[in-house]
Formats: sequence, structure tokens, C-alpha cells
Amino acid sequence: KRVAVLLGGISEEREVSLASGRQVAAALRKAGYDVFEIEVGADLGAVIAALTPAPDAVFNALHGRFGEDGTIQGVLDYMGIPYTHSGVRASSMAMDKGAAKAVFASAGLPLAQHRIVPLDELAEADPLPRPYVIKPVNEGSSVGVFILREGDNRRADIARAWRHGSVAMTEEYVPGRELTVSVLEDRALAVTEIRAEGFYDYTAKYAAGASRHEIPADVPPSVSARARDVAVAAHRALGCRGATRSDFRYDDETDRLVLLEVNTQPGMTPTSLLPEQAAHCGIDFPALCAWMVENAAC
Ligand code: DAL
Ligand code: MG
Repeated sequence: KRVAVLLGGISEEREVSLASGRQVAAALRKAGYDVFEIEVGADLGAVIAALTPAPDAVFNALHGRFGEDGTIQGVLDYMGIPYTHSGVRASSMAMDKGAAKAVFASAGLPLAQHRIVPLDELAEADPLPRPYVIKPVNEGSSVGVFILREGDNRRADIARAWRHGSVAMTEEYVPGRELTVSVLEDRALAVTEIRAEGFYDYTAKYAAGASRHEIPADVPPSVSARARDVAVAAHRALGCRGATRSDFRYDDETDRLVLLEVNTQPGMTPTSLLPEQAAHCGIDFPALCAWMVENAAC
């Protein structure tokens, strides 16, 4: 099978995607596929040309804007080339944190209190009781995320300097632990706890040794079961395909578990969370990548 790996892109997560894509390409070669890489930049015409004549499938290793939000998925649908991960609708819903939360709420899934606010309102007043989180409605990897605690007077400055659209997602800060669950179609793989010193930000996510992953997470079995169930339900509610990863906060003191988001294009370096969970379940990295290619559709 001839597989094109799309990597790079023009989002804030370009470097993450380059790392994901190169590792995926190497793993697919190991698994016996005929692989070529397409480094995606600003020129969509060049991408379309590189996909013509068409490969049998595309491995989409892009993250963020245009790669994770349904845009490239629409191009591939138009070209009739099967691709990995979610389709147009699920991708764009998941990438829009407001739309995704509305879907999760209507499916009865547990969420933190949240509000989408225009930037001028945010500049004027706290939209929620502190502490709360300010984040872009459509970014990943903690790009543009701030935690505002009591006494922090950055709010107006953050609002003025905002460059992620005309609104921001604000969300109650749920104390406690960071959990994540990967899903392959209807199967939750495992629950990982992420331990970072302080906030699990971009650096903690990608700098070597800046965070630790505990797999399986040391939480009560009932909590683990809940997280798995919610991850599968969230994947289904959005109509996702292939692999996703759902991120949670869990507060031991109140036994409260909340779903933060579903990532439709989870990081795919061998030490990323999804590949780690797959390995924990006996699926090595080449086998995981191969499963995703075989599951490709359009
Ligand atoms: N947005 C990054 C790539 C992730 O969710 O893994
Ligand atoms: Mg994300």
C-alpha cells in the first residue's frame, strides 16, 4: 500500500507535527508500507499536486489549524483519498472548544463550568470566579493558555494581547490531577496520569523529562472506569473515527472528574501519550500506525 504522510502544516503546533509525522513515516516503513512524506506549508496547491496521482491512503499527522479542524479533511474527501483519524464534521466540532462542550453537555458528560467571552468583556471583568483558565477556542498543546488565580492582575493585558480570535474560552480551574485516555474506535486503551511540576504547558508537554507519565494511573478503579467510559462516549458524541485522546481533570477531594477536551489528532511520537497507552496494551508503534492506516476512510 502506498501511504502519504502529511506533516508540518502552518499551525502553532507545526514542530509537534513534524516530530509526529517523521516518526510515523519511519514506523509505517517498518510495517512494510510504501511511504512518502508531504511537508505541508502555506501552498495548498503543492500539497494537492503531491497527492496526484493519489496514494492509497493518507496518514494525517497534522495538528491544529487547517490540519485538525476539518479543512484538510475536506480536501481529502473532495479528492476521494482515504485518510486516518476523524472526518470533517467531527474534526471541526472537536477543534471548536465551545461547540464540543455543547455536544458533551447534551450527551450528559461531566464538564467544568465554562463561558465563552468576547475579548472586550474579558478585559473588563472576570467572567468566572477565580481561579479559572483562559484558553483559545481552537488551539492545542496549551498554546495561549493562562491560569488566573486570586491576585493575578494580568487579565486586561491578556485580553488586549490576544491573537486567537475575537473570543476566548474561560473555564473553572479544577484542582487535582491531570488524566488522559486514548480511544481506538470503541475501545479505551488505558488511563495515564500526567505529572508535571506546575502547569502542564507547552514546555512540559514536549521538553524531555519535563513531565512524567504514570500508566496505568494510580486512581481508584471506579475513577478509571468512569474516565474510560466518558472518553468513549465523547468520541462517539462527536462522531470521531480512528484514534482520539480525551483529557481530564480529577479532584481526589471531591471525587470529581471532568472532561476537558477530545483531541482528534493526538501527538504521535513514540513517547506521546496515545502510543504509550497502545504499547501498554501490547500494540507497538508500527502496529498502531498500521492500524490507523487500515482504518482510514473518507
Ligand atoms: N495537540 C497535541 C498534539 C495533542 O493533543 O497531543
Ligand atoms: Mg488539545
